[in-house]
Amino acid sequence: MASTKSQIKKDTGPLAPTIFVIFGITGDLAGSKLLPALLGLYVKKELPDRFAIVGVSRRHFSREELREYLRDRMNIKHGQFFEEDIKHFLDHLSYEEGKFDSPNLYQSLAVHLKSIDDMWGQCSNKLFHLSIPPALYEGILLELSASKLTLPCSDGTGWTRVLIEKPFGNNTDTARNLDKLLGKLFKESQIFRIDHYLAKEALQNILAFRFSNSLFEPLWNREHIERIHIKLLEKETASERGAFYDATGALRDVGQNHLLMMLAIIAMDKPADTSQSDAMRRERARVLSKLIAIPKRSLVENLIRGQYEGFRRESGVDANSLIETYFRITTKINNRRWKGVPFYLEAGKAMAEDRVEIDVYFKGDTNGKIDRRNKILGTSRQNILTFRIQPDEGIKIRFFVKKPGPGMNTESKILKFHYADSPSLASLPEAYERLIHDAIVGDQTLFASTDEIMASWKFITPILENWSKLPLVIYAKGATEV
Ligand code: BG6
Repeated sequence: MASTKSQIKKDTGPLAPTIFVIFGITGDLAGSKLLPALLGLYVKKELPDRFAIVGVSRRHFSREELREYLRDRMNIKHGQFFEEDIKHFLDHLSYEEGKFDSPNLYQSLAVHLKSIDDMWGQCSNKLFHLSIPPALYEGILLELSASKLTLPCSDGTGWTRVLIEKPFGNNTDTARNLDKLLGKLFKESQIFRIDHYLAKEALQNILAFRFSNSLFEPLWNREHIERIHIKLLEKETASERGAFYDATGALRDVGQNHLLMMLAIIAMDKPADTSQSDAMRRERARVLSKLIAIPKRSLVENLIRGQYEGFRRESGVDANSLIETYFRITTKINNRRWKGVPFYLEAGKAMAEDRVEIDVYFKGDTNGKIDRRNKILGTSRQNILTFRIQPDEGIKIRFFVKKPGPGMNTESKILKFHYADSPSLASLPEAYERLIHDAIVGDQTLFASTDEIMASWKFITPILENWSKLPLVIYAKGATEV
């Protein structure tokens, strides 16, 4: 916020002066993802020259104390940024303390934002980021609207946008209500519903891989693909997020959103125009709306829910909690391309390794059965295409070669591409950097639409309603399978 009024001329381009208002600045997400992403953009000079971050929280801090607190909590690697850059970045941060449900907070926030606009000599763009527990969304949205803070300026400068984190509701009804409320208060072009998986480079690369290489797209259907396995396995436990996790569970935390978005990307049809945000969102929503609900009579065959040993002893977790920290779903998609092809969706905390990937199994010789954990009981001679989303992002293909010598015996080999091996591609931007950048320029492609959210809840809600009919498998921390 170093500029003075006299230096300023009005600026209305995508990089016009912008204020990021972060509700929940002292929370986990702000420290782990938002501030590091803003810092990353700042260092790359991808933020507007005139930008300010206004943190909002209930806790008492002076501006200096807040900066120190956030400096310590920012999830950045030692040496990743120069100290000087971090310091200058944090100079753009100021603070507004208050209760989220109190109109007073919004009055003083209005004064605060106006003082920045006055200093800049123009009405700035404003991004309101809700990085707080979903139970608080409604109150904040209503107060923001009542205070008129979300109204754009009348002179053509200064748009306002709202960024809203997942989980978006906790079942079909609550998601619909939240969406209705958003729709009453804002235009669709102002609403940015975040699912940060959509912005992961290696996931976006699947679209480039599918639609730019004529080798695979003709095979991308039930004639040639036997099954697809999507996994999001994490070593970390619920640890400090025990209370949130115990109220949410793995299926709401990553199933309704990240896993289904990965499924949408791998299974969607090619949009008529891939550069068109609406067309991309429409195709993702279309395939999600074709997911087949798990039949009540076959819950046990198609669903596994698990909890890691010791979860009930985590701080903030009920001693008798029945919340799942692991799930596996087997489902199918009811359209011409995918009819009959099983999709396995699997996610878990406290697993043996961090692994987010999608395995596409092509039809081949499978000499044996596949069990419900997607394990082949017997031998298989199938081509497998694996998209590794993280860590160690890349793509690999299993194929077969002849063993040298007499006869026609074959052996499997791997063809692979790792981003890390390719100097021009090795530096992958963080998903939140991409999201914040796109929200600033107003591109909604990587944000979920109402139709996508509703289609995913329509599939997930009945599973949640039947969850308690399934046994809860207790697995050891560090398990390789459940
Ligand atoms: C978040 C979930 O949305 O995604 C976390 O709330 C999960 O539980 C995280 O760990 C995974 O994101 P990433 O980017 O670390 O893979």
